[in-house]
Amino acid sequence: MASAMSEAVLDLRGVAKARAYEVLNDHARAVLSGMNDPVAAMATVSSLVHHAFGFLWTGFYRVVEPGLLRVGPYQGALGCLEIPFGKGVCGTVARERRAVVVPDVSKFPGHISCDSRSRSEIVLPVFGRDGNLFAVFDVDSDQLNAFDENDERGLAAILAFFSDRLT
Ligand code: SME
Repeated sequence: MASAMSEAVLDLRGVAKARAYEVLNDHARAVLSGMNDPVAAMATVSSLVHHAFGFLWTGFYRVVEPGLLRVGPYQGALGCLEIPFGKGVCGTVARERRAVVVPDVSKFPGHISCDSRSRSEIVLPVFGRDGNLFAVFDVDSDQLNAFDENDERGLAAILAFFSDRLT
């Protein structure tokens, strides 16, 4: 049986990003040790990333049928329930199977606004062990230009848990 960690909330806002993501990845792997339930893993990753950096919205949209994303575990205010492939940032990432960083959401054609406070975002593809797209991971910030290649690399390392271990 997997155990809960006592140090449940890490706040890494004072730490350089590259190092912060290393700490967070180690922590996530420790918390998820022995866990092979994808819902538990998505909920845990959402919570850890969200609270480590104080983001606005952090969570997963799952591939539930060909061409359709449906919201999964997340932290933050109410998110859209479903997003077709090709729509908004999440749908673009699902269609193209590559991460997208949006420094200013007002300049992304077709951006889906679930929260008017959202100013920038990063979305990454999440692959299962079979190499199929399993979900996308969406992180929104209330600051412009909040994300860079450190976030892309750091989040991709955390999300590799799903291709290493799940589905
Ligand atoms: N930002 C997303 C929509 C989802 S929410 O903001 C939670 C997009 O354009 O894909």
